[in-house]
Amino acid sequence: MTNFQANRRGALAFLAGASALPLVGACANAQAAEDGSSPSGSAPAPEAVGQPMPGNVELPDTPPEKPSGDSVGYAVVGLGGDALNPLMPSISGARRSHIAALVSGNRGKCETVAKAYGVPADACYSYDNFDEIASDDRIDAVYIVLPSGLHAEYVERAFAAGKHVLCEKPMALSSTECERMIAASKAANRKLMIAYRCHFEPHNLKAMELMRDKAVGDIRLIRANQQYRMGPTTPKKNWRVDRSLAGYGPLEDYGIYGLQSALYLSGEMPATIAARMVQPTGDSRFAEIASSVSTLIKFPSGAMAELYTSYDTRSANRGVVYGTSGVLEMDPATGYGGHQYTLRTDGVQQIEAGDPSVQFAAQFDHLADAIRDGADIRTPGEMGLRDVRLMEAIFKSALTDSVIHINPDGTIRS
Ligand SMILES: NC(=O)c1ccc[n+]([C@@H]2O[C@H](COP(=O)([O-])OP(=O)(O)OC[C@H]3O[C@@H](n4cnc5c(N)ncnc54)[C@H](OP(=O)(O)O)[C@@H]3O)[C@@H](O)[C@H]2O)c1
Repeated sequence: MTNFQANRRGALAFLAGASALPLVGACANAQAAEDGSSPSGSAPAPEAVGQPMPGNVELPDTPPEKPSGDSVGYAVVGLGGDALNPLMPSISGARRSHIAALVSGNRGKCETVAKAYGVPADACYSYDNFDEIASDDRIDAVYIVLPSGLHAEYVERAFAAGKHVLCEKPMALSSTECERMIAASKAANRKLMIAYRCHFEPHNLKAMELMRDKAVGDIRLIRANQQYRMGPTTPKKNWRVDRSLAGYGPLEDYGIYGLQSALYLSGEMPATIAARMVQPTGDSRFAEIASSVSTLIKFPSGAMAELYTSYDTRSANRGVVYGTSGVLEMDPATGYGGHQYTLRTDGVQQIEAGDPSVQFAAQFDHLADAIRDGADIRTPGEMGLRDVRLMEAIFKSALTDSVIHINPDGTIRS
């Protein structure tokens, strides 16, 4: 059975089961089925709560040096796996960015991390006194690395405090929240960038260039898999399976990389979207979210994209572009490192594009350049909004068992 054979039973089970979800009311689900938005809107607003130090975190032995000149000071908000593992260590490679402050609900962890990164103890903020960053001139920008359902609130509060914002993906869990975030950025006259690191990763950049240069001819099919098998857990233990913090789950968290790559490799916006979601019953990992989401996109040129993402399938992070005269294989496609890209045309060419690890520091410096020099942002809030709109279309398709027609700005054509 292929990814795109209808799993009508699974989608209907999702709809039927949804009204019984503890965080979700029946009305909210009817609305969600209508517009594809996450039904978390009517549930109590999720709250920021400090967590223990994640496993496998290596703190620097000596604090990274602050670049000289007009380096931009970041406050990192949420000291979890993403912040402490690839992101904060990468700051030592930045030319115009440094960590100036930390925001965490766990004071002890905050102080330990602050010491390792040379951040003064009085620059350790909590979620309660977050708004006091307004009067801290050491902070130019805020980097939001919180669970996705908290992005909108903290981005808006950061703008109210007069700071620029780098926000992790997905931008938010609904297009309404994204629109509010963009409006807040404009009202504060401050920059908003989404941390789409692949736009700063050499292999992905090379792939974009190859596709623009028609290295595989005309694109006919893009296939993307972003999946892994999550261990036993519950919504109480893990925000990634909690609807109010994660939306429908794997697509917002991981499959968004496949969606993004389908757009930046094709250079097109979808014309139509057809999708299926699966929510197994009797599995506490999927009491509130989908286990897997499968999407078929048709682009105006006639090219198609098949996207599959899952928290319940053996790991893969793979992309393939099939064209009229060649194939580009990317495996892994969008990870932190180890990218293997192979171009097959008349011969076989390994793509050696450079060190993938530069993607992290490059993001910080990109926003720093925009703040200091007024440079354009490659991954602005509008791009985050576009992608959330497309995810809403995917959910609407799965929940209503229909093909969704898309406008050029990502909104659903009525
Ligand atoms: N770009 C990438 O490659 C990438 C990779 C992974 C994740 N992400 C994104 O980064 C964000 C965070 O993901 P993560 O993997 O870092 O998550 P994580 O390891 O679970 O950490 C999240 C952190 O957020 C804070 N937090 C505040 N309220 C929380 C709550 N109610 N439940 C759980 N944590 C809460 C905690 O920090 P304190 O204890 O300090 O308060 C926690 O350690 C998500 O938006 C995710 O999509 C991006």
